[in-house]
Amino acid sequence: MDIFCKKGELQKEACDVLIVNEFEEVDEPGGATGAVNKSLDGLLRSLMKEEGFKGQAGQILLVRTSGAIPARRVLVVGLGRREDFCLESVREASASALNAIRSLKPKTVVSILHGAGVGGLDPMACAQAMVEGMRLAAYVFARYKKQKENGIGAFTIVTTDGRAIPKVKKGIAQGEKYAAGTLLTRDLVNTPAMDMRPIDLAQAAQAIAKKNSAVHVQVSGKTRLESMGAGGILGVAKGSDHEPFLVHLTYKPKTRSRKKIVLVGKGVTFDSGGLSLKPADYMMSMKCDMAGAAAVLGVFSVIAELGIKQEVHGIFATVENMPSGCAIRPGDVVRSLSKKTVEVLNTDAEGRLILMDCLTLAGRLKPQAIIDLATLTGACMVGLGDEITGVMANQPELAQSLLQAAAQTGEKMWELPLEKNYIKLLKSNVADLQNIGGKWGGALTAGLFLQEFVDPKTSWAHLDIAGPAFAERDLNAYNKKGATGHPVRTLLSYLQSL
Ligand code: BES
Ligand code: ZN
Ligand code: ZN
Repeated sequence: MDIFCKKGELQKEACDVLIVNEFEEVDEPGGATGAVNKSLDGLLRSLMKEEGFKGQAGQILLVRTSGAIPARRVLVVGLGRREDFCLESVREASASALNAIRSLKPKTVVSILHGAGVGGLDPMACAQAMVEGMRLAAYVFARYKKQKENGIGAFTIVTTDGRAIPKVKKGIAQGEKYAAGTLLTRDLVNTPAMDMRPIDLAQAAQAIAKKNSAVHVQVSGKTRLESMGAGGILGVAKGSDHEPFLVHLTYKPKTRSRKKIVLVGKGVTFDSGGLSLKPADYMMSMKCDMAGAAAVLGVFSVIAELGIKQEVHGIFATVENMPSGCAIRPGDVVRSLSKKTVEVLNTDAEGRLILMDCLTLAGRLKPQAIIDLATLTGACMVGLGDEITGVMANQPELAQSLLQAAAQTGEKMWELPLEKNYIKLLKSNVADLQNIGGKWGGALTAGLFLQEFVDPKTSWAHLDIAGPAFAERDLNAYNKKGATGHPVRTLLSYLQSL
């Protein structure tokens, strides 16, 4: 499907499907939808009534035009209540419309620009949201499927407002990049651990650097990690037959950059729990435990094309957490890169052990901000459910910027506290720290553990993406069961906002 835009009037466009929209509980269609209804002698309005189409978010009405206008069919999609309307409604409506017509395999589709007319939103943002909604909805993970889907031909967004065209074009281009980064992340996360070993994830980083001259990558294997003293990464990797890697990506913009930001990702290609073995049910989706690292790669895959103006580093360790005769044991002590020692009481709390070394490296770059992304705790899902990321930050402004970006992209996030009183739960009898806290507040003690490896003068935020990174059920019109690519679009939006 190629997406275009042009100036025109919807009722005059020849196409297989013409997409228009309607708010909830509107009696008389207005704007461009009203114009199409008028050309059809009120057919849309009467069928809406007859078929019980109320304009609820994602509701669909498909109408054959029988030659009354050049379009063969008209699809009306509901936008929901006007007072709830926002960019997320545009994403959802575009995705719902796409889902409804994909089986028709239309060669040509023409659509209204959702949200820019009566909705009153910025045309560029609307076009971007439309492209995101459609690209993310159209995604299928086809690597292991015999039958590949072939879909829609040309999709043209038509607006009567000629002055909006340059903005719409910009929005389409930006939406394509946001979606491409997200879909790369989805592919990496959906790939089973047998084909997504630590070396595969490192090679994915190298492939990105090869395509973009502004991106450089450095990959360190076991020998280098040993000479560095990255005891956390090495400790977790001990039980696996696969070598661990540390990956450092660097993006330098063409113009002199204002800020230096480091993104740190958790790259556990499979989390069996190690000797603290997970029950079978909990292990089923654990190929997703590299979603943080995959999100870093999603960002880097489009960072140059988006012309991000900051210097951005991506650091991730990638390991497999397995039980074996060589595996790290409960009670073992590892020495981190920061020289702090950690008693490993539960080998399933492995994410923080690899992240602590990455955070030390991140701090050595003296950045303005560090943001780590990790499928870190089941406890975060207990607290916030499976759709919401937990945000913990040592500086309120950074948390606010991330939450603001998330509100724009529709990726749900909520702030959690770094409660000082809970730090004592991480005290160990034999080492500087232990890798698990008490019975309660597991997401918070995980965040506090990471904070021990961050200089308090450096702005740092931790995103616990355990829930939303991988959907165990269909979440909405464009996030289906499987990897979601969360929070790539929020990170891109945050980086663009600086
Ligand atoms: N990778 C898991 C967390 C996870 C759970 C991610 C569900 C995605 C979905 C992590 O390594 C883990 O096992 N955490 C433990 C920590 C505990 C042992 C302190 C957990 O949350 O149970
Ligand atoms: Zn684990
Ligand atoms: Zn894990």
